[in-house]
Amino acid sequence: MNDRTKRVALISGASRGIGDHVAAELFRQGWAVSLGMRTPAMPQWALGHEGDVHLADYDANDVTAEKRWVDSAFQHFGRIDAIVANAGIMIPKTVIEADDDDIDAMLAVNVKAPRRLAKAAWDALCESGCGRVIILASLSGKRVKSALSGSYSLSKFAAVALSHAIRQAGFDKGVRATAICPGFVATDMAAAISDRPADQLTQPDDLARIIAMLLSLPNEASVAEFAINCQLEEFF
Ligand SMILES: NC(=O)c1ccc[n+]([C@@H]2O[C@H](COP(=O)([O-])OP(=O)(O)OC[C@H]3O[C@@H](n4cnc5c(N)ncnc54)[C@H](OP(=O)(O)O)[C@@H]3O)[C@@H](O)[C@H]2O)c1
Repeated sequence: MNDRTKRVALISGASRGIGDHVAAELFRQGWAVSLGMRTPAMPQWALGHEGDVHLADYDANDVTAEKRWVDSAFQHFGRIDAIVANAGIMIPKTVIEADDDDIDAMLAVNVKAPRRLAKAAWDALCESGCGRVIILASLSGKRVKSALSGSYSLSKFAAVALSHAIRQAGFDKGVRATAICPGFVATDMAAAISDRPADQLTQPDDLARIIAMLLSLPNEASVAEFAINCQLEEFF
């Protein structure tokens, strides 16, 4: 049986990387979690606690997936208090090399799907009284660090704007949105584009603790953006 007094978070891209760490940390801190995955599978850390862990078949490229996921999670838990829009893709191409398909692919997963997820969960988030939306943006949503990250930056600037737009739309309903803006985090994504050793990158479990802390804050301590970096830059 699941415990309806627990706060409930939906985490997209929970199969691996940052999403898996965020889900595990929230679960450890007493949240019930619904894991959006392209190939749903119960994670090792959840074995024996299946009532508080809900699995959903979730592909960000399917425009009907968010509503199905939200309906199924709501049916399972009876409430939704937070969404963590984490699923994301990075195509390392300059804005000159990229074609429309590359740009569309990143906008679809990094921007359009998180907006649909927030929209699908909106009534439940408002009903919560302290609904929370976390958008896994990036420091690439705050500055364009290199030519090769340019196309990805385009989508992540939009993801930061999405988070601010949700914050504006939901503030008087108790919904708080935060754009998380990390530099390199030691996951498959960073391994594909950075040759820095993994132990010199931000660790996904540290990021997960930051996100859990942000989700624990009261309505009166709203954090619009949170930047995290493993290296020194002028402003971040
Ligand atoms: N790692 C970094 O350095 C870094 C820095 C800043 C921001 N971020 C952002 O943080 C988020 C998580 O990144 P990560 O480093 O954990 O990446 P990752 O290790 O590459 O994992 C990506 C996650 O997104 C899921 N995903 C990708 N496309 C999807 C789709 N169409 N539908 C549903 N799920 C999909 C993947 O699922 P599958 O397992 O099915 O592929 C996986 O769970 C992303 O939004 C990323 O842009 C990452």
